[in-house]
Amino acid sequence: MLISSGPTREPIDAVRFLSNYSTGFLGECLAREAVRRGHRVTVVSGPTDRAPLARATTIQVERAAQMQRALRHALPRADVLIMAAAVCDFRPVPIGATKLARRGRVALRLQATPDIVAGLPRRRGQLIVGFALEAEQVRERAGRKLTAKRLDLIVGQRLNGSGPPFGRHRVDAMILHPSGQARELGRISKPALARVLLDEIEQLWYGQQRQSTSHGTRRLRGFGTRMGA
Ligand code: C5P
Repeated sequence: MLISSGPTREPIDAVRFLSNYSTGFLGECLAREAVRRGHRVTVVSGPTDRAPLARATTIQVERAAQMQRALRHALPRADVLIMAAAVCDFRPVPIGATKLARRGRVALRLQATPDIVAGLPRRRGQLIVGFALEAEQVRERAGRKLTAKRLDLIVGQRLNGSGPPFGRHRVDAMILHPSGQARELGRISKPALARVLLDEIEQLWYGQQRQSTSHGTRRLRGFGTRMGA
């Protein structure tokens, strides 16, 4: 299982960057839960204060472009990608090579970063799971992202008055399937969300494995409690 986690940082100049409040706690909860269930886990993590999990492989990256490269490299060997990282949607261009001097007003020009998950080359049978944080119309907007980004599941989260859902805060979440089926989770802690989401992913994975073996189209790659070979 490949899990992206944490924020990305996009440099403004030699000493400053643009980022967001993501702490990597959600990605860590997902990785812990996956390891606890016996899956082999690789975490591609943006910069966080959290110590890497001892029983997972962690690849540390900083910028969205580096996260994209690391995921492209690791995805061919993964059965599941959970794209939990809060990737910066913009990066400053051009980046100052040295420290910009302080002055009254500075305008930053921002360029959209690549939509990493939407552009990843996949192989048949891989499960790709994303997240969407929405201020309103969560079900509709998350549903549109599920289709546009070619995901197998998306977790829609409501951005409400209690501030951004980063760190140890509970989140207000729902899980959407491509069929339109929605599972409302209400306010839920991140460790609990990780358990529910891993249940859904395992159900999908083992379901599709059963289907393909019963049709003789794909052999199981030898796992008991563990996905993949
Ligand atoms: O479009 P939006 O940013 O709401 O989509 C969120 C989902 O897309 C998350 O799973 C996030 O990790 C992923 N994402 C990405 N590349 C970006 C921005 C978001 O893969 N540049």
